[in-house]
Amino acid sequence: MTSAEMLTPENPKVLGTGLEARGVHAWFGKNHVLSDINLNFAAGTVTALIGPSGCGKSTFIRTINRMHEFIPTAAMAGEVFLDGKDVYASGTDVTKIRLKIGMVFQKPNPFPSMTIGENVLSGLKLAQLKVPNKDDLLEECLTRAGLWKEVKDRLSAHGGSLSGGQQQRLCIARSLAVAPQVLLMDEPCSALDPGSTLRIEETIRELSDSMTIVIVTHNMQQAARVSDYTAFFLSDGGPGEMIETAPTSEIFSRPKDKRTEDYVTGRFG
Ligand SMILES: Nc1ncnc2c1ncn2[C@@H]1O[C@H](COP(=O)(O)OP(=O)(O)O)[C@@H](O)[C@H]1O
Ligand SMILES: [Mg+2]
Repeated sequence: MTSAEMLTPENPKVLGTGLEARGVHAWFGKNHVLSDINLNFAAGTVTALIGPSGCGKSTFIRTINRMHEFIPTAAMAGEVFLDGKDVYASGTDVTKIRLKIGMVFQKPNPFPSMTIGENVLSGLKLAQLKVPNKDDLLEECLTRAGLWKEVKDRLSAHGGSLSGGQQQRLCIARSLAVAPQVLLMDEPCSALDPGSTLRIEETIRELSDSMTIVIVTHNMQQAARVSDYTAFFLSDGGPGEMIETAPTSEIFSRPKDKRTEDYVTGRFG
């Protein structure tokens, strides 16, 4: 067993220096779906990825935490740096990368027959993390995910007994338990009602103090509410490209590219 990390108040996981994609391309078989994506994600910021369906947003975030390569026929080129180290460098432990770069999906996917508490702690063994006190970690993660008050008296209820919005926050708490530096969120609210959506958006804002967040969203108001930066992706017949990235207020008020303007003003997509 490799040396386990001890997670204590004196040794919190730090933000790191951020994330950077350089010259990322992706293919499914011969289908070139992403071309030359260059994006910087500064530590402690929230970046929204927007663009019409099929332009490669999900594929792009799967290249960041090396999930893309697990899809049959998938290929990629380029580099992804986390704290200055290429996550694709030979000899990199893919499991470790996935622990440092967590992911939350469109459809909440808690383990339905595990308890709420077991769900949150389910990644610890894989992460080889030793924690001085599991109850403290459980409370901390559920608090940061904005779920503690609602579940503190029913930690032994099944994950599947929660509402959709609560299940999504449980999945966020589960990601947090292994202390990731980056959280990738692929349309995390698209299956949720407006109230739950706002609750998750608050959670995202709170988490951004301690981690770097990349969120795919089709909801322009959501991008405007939660993100510091926005990147607009588009596939114009060919592979998806990143057309423009800027502080979110600029993307929505004075985009540089006509195609960005057309998209954010609802003319297509
Ligand atoms: N598992 C897959 N196998 C083959 N092609 C895929 C797969 N997933 C996505 N694609 C294709 O890759 C392109 C980008 O898809 P995706 O990344 O899902 O876009 P978005 O998330 O922006 O809607 C699309 O043309 C889609 O059909
Ligand atoms: Mg998608």
